[in-house]
Amino acid sequence: MRRGGFALSWGFPMSTNTTPIRVAVTGAAGQIGYALLFRIASGAMFGPDRPIILQLIEAPFEKAMKALEGVAMELDDCAFPLLKGIVMTDQPEVGFKDANWSLLIGAKPRGPGMERADLLKDNGKIFVGQGQIIDRVAADDARIAVVGNPANTNCMIAASQAKRLTPDRFTAMVRLDQNRAQTQLAKKAGVDLTAVKDIFIYGNHSPTMFPAFGSATIEGKKVTDVISDHEWLKGPFLETVGKRGAAIIAARGASSAASAANALTDHVRDLMTPGKIHSVAVKSEGLYGFDPKVWAGMPVRTTTPGSYEIIKGYEMCEFAKEKIAITNKELVDERAFVADQIGG
Ligand code: NAD
Ligand code: LMR
Repeated sequence: MRRGGFALSWGFPMSTNTTPIRVAVTGAAGQIGYALLFRIASGAMFGPDRPIILQLIEAPFEKAMKALEGVAMELDDCAFPLLKGIVMTDQPEVGFKDANWSLLIGAKPRGPGMERADLLKDNGKIFVGQGQIIDRVAADDARIAVVGNPANTNCMIAASQAKRLTPDRFTAMVRLDQNRAQTQLAKKAGVDLTAVKDIFIYGNHSPTMFPAFGSATIEGKKVTDVISDHEWLKGPFLETVGKRGAAIIAARGASSAASAANALTDHVRDLMTPGKIHSVAVKSEGLYGFDPKVWAGMPVRTTTPGSYEIIKGYEMCEFAKEKIAITNKELVDERAFVADQIGG
């Protein structure tokens, strides 16, 4: 194996004239990476007609790079028609070069008994360097999605390093929480999950997140009309969604991976699809009572591929406002904790 960063590209004649989209993925040989790359290469993220070049970035350790080689061999062996090249590197400058999308997964996962915020000290610094490098070398239309925990604050750290790329390019993933909430509501109401609409996640990807059931609908009716057990909505529902990651760690002995990869596929695909309304953690701009400088989950509508507007009109009851105040405080505290990394 060659160390110190290398680029291995293989090319085939393009089956269409479409320019391949360059997708950089950090932590590509990790658990989420392994569940994600094959879906990207099969077209699940950017559609069945968009060629892809995967730019896979791993930590500069022999074991990680060796594992990455194995993943690349498997990608080769799938003979995906859309996959036009693979770059493997432990050098972020190489991996993020000209990337249209950078998926920042590479970070430590938490273990049993930890909160995601406990990872800030170890993981936060990764996002300082990556934010700077992406800003320097990624494509002009670069978009960034952060998954590594604590995702909201890591995203804010990466965005704080950018001079060229504006904060709206940096999003963090709360889509797993939206998907979890949708399923829990469907199970409680005894309906197919496609009947549940407009359930959005506000705030931090942590147990304080608020899945706003007040604006959700089931078969076109308000959730609070369909599910009469409002104590369940305010208690066990919020608790189950907020602590689902810990429940998976307790059961599996490792953090969620396949569902996280699936959610990231949803996150990016919906951000590339005009008209989609979905939960994304974005710079709050002071909406819904959040501190303007934190990255908070909220509903967005995709406008043009990669761009979005925050949906401003959802009414919040007193209960919702209280929940948002709690998750906002946690985000503000996390921001204060990394003040030295973001320059105050
Ligand atoms: P993992 O340990 O299986 O894989 C992480 C990979 O990242 C490893 O291969 C490691 O070598 C690599 N890595 C570490 N530092 C790196 C760096 N600086 N550059 C490039 N690669 C680096 O972990 P995983 O299960 O894939 O989870 C990754 C992260 O995603 C964790 O922080 C986890 O908590 C988080 N996560 C977030 C969500 C969410 O909804 N936001 C869901 C699940 C997991
Ligand atoms: C999840 O929600 O499953 C991930 O964030 C992993 C974790 O630490 O909970």
